[in-house]
Amino acid sequence: MKQEAMKAIAAAIDYEMLQSLQVKYLGKNGILTKELKILGQLPPHERKSRGQELNATKQFLEQAIRNQRTLLEQEDVKKVLERERVDVSLPGYGYPIGGQHILTQIVNRLIDVFHTMSYEVVVGPELETDHYNFSALNFPDEHPARDTQDTFWTTDGRLLRTHTSPVQIRYMENHKPPFKIVVPGRVFRNEAIDATHEAQFHQFEALVVDERITMGDLRGAINTMAKSLFGDRVKTKLQPSFFPFVEPGAEFSIWWENPRTGCSEWLELGGCGMVHPNVFKSVGYENVTGFAFGFGIERLALTSSGIPDIRYFHQNDVRFLKQFRGNGL
Ligand code: FA5
Repeated sequence: MKQEAMKAIAAAIDYEMLQSLQVKYLGKNGILTKELKILGQLPPHERKSRGQELNATKQFLEQAIRNQRTLLEQEDVKKVLERERVDVSLPGYGYPIGGQHILTQIVNRLIDVFHTMSYEVVVGPELETDHYNFSALNFPDEHPARDTQDTFWTTDGRLLRTHTSPVQIRYMENHKPPFKIVVPGRVFRNEAIDATHEAQFHQFEALVVDERITMGDLRGAINTMAKSLFGDRVKTKLQPSFFPFVEPGAEFSIWWENPRTGCSEWLELGGCGMVHPNVFKSVGYENVTGFAFGFGIERLALTSSGIPDIRYFHQNDVRFLKQFRGNGL
C-alpha cells in the first residue's frame, strides 16, 4: 500500500490529484485511517508493532504529499516566470513627451539673447484702449496710419492691440529712465488672411531710453540680435520708413542664407527708429532719448524654418509641430 501510494503521489501533476490522494489514504475514511481504527481489534502483542508501523507510514505519506505540493508550487512559479519572461535585449518603448511650440522656442531664444544685454522682459494686456494702442503713440485721431493697423473692437470701445508698442507707454508711465526692456506678446489685426498674414500673430518689441541714445545704439542692438540668431556672417540694413511713434523711422532687414533656397537674401523683419518726442511728451519724460524696434515672430519663423504658410502655426497639427524640436531657428 505504501509503495502504491508513494507512486501515485509522485505522479500527481496537479493540486486536485494530490488532494484526492490525501483523502484516499489519510482522509476520514481513508485506507490508512481505517487501518488505524481497527487497531484496537488486534491481539495485544500485534497491536504495538502494527501501530508503530501504521503511524510511521502515515507520517511518511504526509511528508510525501507536502513535498509533492512544494514541487507543484515550484512548477507554478516556473510557469509564471516563463510566461512573464522579459527579453532585456528588446528595444524599449518610446514614451511621447510634449515639447514647446516653435513660436515659444523662438521667443525664449530671443529673451535669452536680450538677457545677455541686460534687458528686462515686460508684458502688457492684449485688450487695450485707443489711448495706449494709438493716441499716446502719436497716431492722430484721423491719421491714415491707423488704417494700416485695423483691428477688432469691443462694444465698450476697447480694442485688441495691433502691436506690442502700447507696452512702451504703459512701462514708461510707471518707470524712470534709464532702462532697457523687451516685450514679447500676441497681437491682432483685422486682416485678409493669406500665407503671410494672420489675424493674430506675435511680435517682439524692444525699447531703450537714456540720456544720449543714438541710431548707432539701435544698429548695435539689432546687429547683436541678428548675429546671435543667425551667426557672425549676418548683415543688417535699415531703410527709411514711417511709424508715427519714431523719428527717424526705418524698416530693418537682415542678410542671411535661406536654408530652403540656399540663396542669400534680405529678410525684412520689422520696424524701428528713435522714439518720437511726442511719445516722450505723452508720458511726461524730458531730456531723454531712446530707440525702439518691433518685429513679427511668425514671419521670422516662416522664413528661417522654410515653413510655407503662416496658418500652420495655429492649426495645432502635431505632424507639423513635432518637426520643430530644436531651438526654433
Ligand atoms: C509695427 O507693428 C510697429 N509697432 C513696429 C515698430 C516698433 C516700429 C517700434 C518702430 C518702433 P508693422 O505694422 O510693420 O509695425 O508690423 C511689424 C511686423 O509685424 C511686420 O514686419 C511683420 O513681421 C509682422 N506683421 C504685421 N502684420 C502681420 C500679419 N497680419 N501677420 C503676421 N505678421 C504680421
